[in-house]
Amino acid sequence: MNTPLPAALAGLALLLAVPTSAGAQDPAALQAEGAALIKEYADTLGAALKGAIDRDGPAGAIGVCHEAAPRIAAEIGSRSGWTIRRTSLKARNPSAQPSPYERAVLEEFQSRLAGGGDIATLTRAETVEENGGKVFHLVKAIPTAELCLACHGTTLKPEVKAKLDDLYPGDAATGFKAGDMRGAFSFAKRL
Ligand code: HEC
Repeated sequence: MNTPLPAALAGLALLLAVPTSAGAQDPAALQAEGAALIKEYADTLGAALKGAIDRDGPAGAIGVCHEAAPRIAAEIGSRSGWTIRRTSLKARNPSAQPSPYERAVLEEFQSRLAGGGDIATLTRAETVEENGGKVFHLVKAIPTAELCLACHGTTLKPEVKAKLDDLYPGDAATGFKAGDMRGAFSFAKRL
């Protein structure tokens, strides 16, 4: 009761500085862990995509994308305990539609990009209260590269278009230019 305020505050600061479960919930550590997983997912998927395009051309590679993207996400997710997905304001796979949270982040990224922001810096990392629990979210923008345009650009080869129409009747993920934001990696971990 009689503790002077500065001493009480110092005690409080000390209390807050004690890491919980060896720093597992430290935002910087979570962000680093998530960023490494995003890199692994992007590299693995990118290599599978490039290999398939070199081998079978873009129309042949669609099947790889269709099958490999969810499989790699599920594999990294079950190993790490993170929820791993890609999302977009213009989604191809209906399951990539953004949640309200993801939509707000994507729209913020889009307006930062329109205002001259560097796409490489478009990342959001934060802990959010969800359904009575805490969830750490890491969202990182995915730029459109030249390689992507064969399947996400404005002019698609007829065989690419036919295959996409067949697999994704509601496909909204065309008409992109190099440098556009294609979507985002959205990784989350329940704390
Ligand atoms: C060979 C065709 C092809 C190429 C090239 C390609 N994609 Fe895709 N992309 C797809 C297909 C097919 C899907 C749907 C995958 C699924 O069913 O989960 C997809 C889905 C995505 C998604 C998930 C969101 C959504 O719209 O469903 C993102 C993000 C994405 N692609 C980004 C890229 C980027 C970035 C590149 C270039 C580095 C790229 N893609 C190159 C075919 C392609």
